[in-house]
Amino acid sequence: MDVTVFSTKPYDRQFFDAAAGRHRLTYLEAHLSPKTAALAKGAGAVCAFVNDQVDAAVLDTFKQLGVGLVALRSAGFNNVDLAAATRNGIVVARVPAYSPEAVSEHAVALMLSLDRNIHRAYARVREGNFALDGLIGFNLHGRTVGVVGTGKIGAGVARIMLGFGCKVVAYDPVPDPESVKLGVAYMPLPELLAVSDIVTLHCPLTPDTRHLIDAAAIAGMKHGAMLINTSRGGIIDTQAVIAGLKSGAIGRLGLDVYEEEADLFFEDMSDQLIEDDVFARLLTFPNVLVTGHQGFFTTEALTAIAETTIANIDAFEKTGRPLYETPAPKSPAPVAAAR
Ligand code: NAI
Repeated sequence: MDVTVFSTKPYDRQFFDAAAGRHRLTYLEAHLSPKTAALAKGAGAVCAFVNDQVDAAVLDTFKQLGVGLVALRSAGFNNVDLAAATRNGIVVARVPAYSPEAVSEHAVALMLSLDRNIHRAYARVREGNFALDGLIGFNLHGRTVGVVGTGKIGAGVARIMLGFGCKVVAYDPVPDPESVKLGVAYMPLPELLAVSDIVTLHCPLTPDTRHLIDAAAIAGMKHGAMLINTSRGGIIDTQAVIAGLKSGAIGRLGLDVYEEEADLFFEDMSDQLIEDDVFARLLTFPNVLVTGHQGFFTTEALTAIAETTIANIDAFEKTGRPLYETPAPKSPAPVAAAR
């Protein structure tokens, strides 16, 4: 099948070329929008990513062009007008889960780097500065780690931290029996915040979890605790977190996601000024480490994403239905994309 792939980077091409099989993929750098939708002319399917706009205007164009499938190479589908897709008879597929360990391990990488000041040590040593002042860390062994959301990623973090000899406590409305068996202690969120040396967020962004970590939550945290967010930016109130960093209530902050990341992440903006003053303020703290939404960015995860997307296209070509149609029958619709 001819497939037009929007918003591609060289790394997407590498993994999709390896998985493509008999399908003919045309890679475009352009994001999908009403202005670029016509570029899919001649394709039976379109492959789109999280910042592509799959709205009614785009889907109307696809119908006119004869595009039958939008195969998302993400788990989230908040960027798709599903009603318009149904109206136009266009099927939407996604990749519901891939390599949760990639994100669990990235969360732990942030913890370790912040704890032992690896980000600062790296810069110092390259400058010929071998002084240790300001780099003091703490042993993870014996510390308490609070995991908020013990789904696939959070449970993975819990397993790793148990291996470090940490005490792992958790909050999740639906506790994970496997985590309980391993020794994870579930408790209400305020209790978790009060006892944890490290709080790590792994719940989805929903109306219930938006700004879950706000000024009141920070006031209830152990003074100087580390906060890690690899889930969705909106789960923390960034202004409240900045106030917490200034007062010392938050001792270390590791972020892979940011509330307003759509305007920043995934692009090289090194030649430009950062207009977002809140984000710019975050970058001034020595005890803050930000990565640009790369938790999913491993060979294993990218392979799984490409293979599942191609499997969706294969199944659609053979049966008219992809393997993972959106929305999957039992999955709750998320507020934000679960990449
Ligand atoms: P999952 O669906 O397996 O687990 C989510 C867990 O959160 C569930 O156990 C659920 O019961 C729990 N939960 C729901 N509401 C909660 C609340 N109010 N408080 C505490 N827990 C709550 O999802 P998975 O695969 O573990 O992913 C978690 C999140 O990680 C995703 O929603 C996504 O936002 C983020 N993510 C980030 C990536 C990155 O590259 N940084 C890549 C993939 C996912």
